[in-house]
Amino acid sequence: MEIYLDNAATSFPKPPEVAKAVYEYMMHNGATAGRGAYERAMEADRMVYEARKLVAELFHFNDPKKVIFTANVTEALNLAMYGMLKQGDHVITSSLEHNAVWRCLKTLERDRGISISTIPATKEGFTNPDDIAKAIRHNTALIIFTHASNVLGTLQPIREIGAIARQHKIPFMVDAAQTAGVCPIHIEEDHIDLLAFTGHKSLLGPMGTGGLIVNWDGKIRPLKHGGTGGDSAYEYQPEYYPNKLETGTLNVSGIVGLREALRFIRNEGLENVLKKEKEIIAYALNRLSEVKDIIIYGPKDVEKIVGVISFNIKGISGEDIAYRLDQEYGIMIRVGLHCAPTAHCVIETEKEGTMRIGIGYFNEKSDIDSLVEALKKISGDY
Ligand SMILES: Cc1ncc(COP(=O)(O)O)c(C=O)c1O
Repeated sequence: MEIYLDNAATSFPKPPEVAKAVYEYMMHNGATAGRGAYERAMEADRMVYEARKLVAELFHFNDPKKVIFTANVTEALNLAMYGMLKQGDHVITSSLEHNAVWRCLKTLERDRGISISTIPATKEGFTNPDDIAKAIRHNTALIIFTHASNVLGTLQPIREIGAIARQHKIPFMVDAAQTAGVCPIHIEEDHIDLLAFTGHKSLLGPMGTGGLIVNWDGKIRPLKHGGTGGDSAYEYQPEYYPNKLETGTLNVSGIVGLREALRFIRNEGLENVLKKEKEIIAYALNRLSEVKDIIIYGPKDVEKIVGVISFNIKGISGEDIAYRLDQEYGIMIRVGLHCAPTAHCVIETEKEGTMRIGIGYFNEKSDIDSLVEALKKISGDY
C-alpha cells in the first residue's frame, strides 16, 4: 500500500470529479476561452468565468474580473512583484519565504536596485507585527508575507500585518500557497491588496493552475504581452482586467478542473476541511513525538500551523530515512530545504534540511500510524 504524505508540494489524490471534468472538457469541448463566438467557445468562456467567481467567493472578494489566472503561485508572485516594483523601492518580507518570493526579490535587488528588510521570526516561525511597523520607510512599496511557512507550517498574523500596511497605505501581498483551500482568507477583513494562490495544493485542482487577486488600484505592469482575444487592433496590452495581466491562451482544461475542485471544497465546507486536517495534524504531532531522538520543528499547537510538519532524527540522515520510507514502506515524504533556504536559517537546519510531511484532506490517522511505526523501525536499525 502506498501512503502519500507530500501534500505541501502538491495534493494527491484529487477529488475524482476534478479529473472527470478535465477529461470531459478535453473530449467534448476543447475550445479556447474569450476568443471564439461559436457555442463551444462561449461555453469554455462561461466555465472560466465560473471558476473566477468561485475563487472570488472563496476569498470573499467581490470582483471576479480581477481574479487573474496564472500557471501557479510562482507566476502570480512574479507578475505582481515585477509589475509593481521599481528602482529604489523598499520591500518588507518575512524570514520564512519560499524561493518563489525570495529569489524574485533578490533578483529585483540585483537588477532593479530595490532594497529588502527581512523581519526576524522566532525559532517556531512566529513574526511580531510590531517589527513590521518599525521596518517601514518612506520608500516602502510592498509588504509581502507568506501566509504559512512551507517548512514550519507556522501561520503568520496576516490580519495584523494587513492592518499595519493599510494604515501606512502600503500594498500588502500574501502568498497563500499553503493555505488557500484549507484556511479561511478574507480579502477585505485581512486587508489584502494582492493575493497569490496556487491551484494544485490544498485547493485540490490540477497542476498548471493558480492566480493573483488584485484588490488594489495601483499600477501593475504586465509581465507578458500578447493575444487576449479582444481589441486585437490595439497595439498594446488592454488596460482592463483580467486581459491586462492575462495573456495568451489560457489553461482552460486546468481551470475547468480547478472549478470542480472549488465546488468540491464549497460542498465539503471549508470549516470541515480545516477541522479534519487539524485532527490529523494534532494526531501526527502527538504520535511523531513517540519516535526516539526525533526533533520536531515549529509550533506544536494545531491552531498555529497548517498541515506541514518538519522533523529530523538525531544522528540519522533524513535522505536515508526518506529513501527507506519510500522503498521499504511505500511512504512518500519530502526531504531537503523545500525551496525555502531562509526558513532553515531560522531553525538552523540550512545544511541538512528537514524531513517534511504534508498532510492533506484525504490523509487518515492510519497513514500517520504507518509512518510512525516505520520511523520507529528504521531508527532502531541505527
Ligand atoms: C509558501 C509557498 N510559496 C510558493 C510555492 C510555489 O508554488 P508553485 O510551485 O505552485 O508556484 C510553494 C510551493 O512549493 C509554497 O509552499
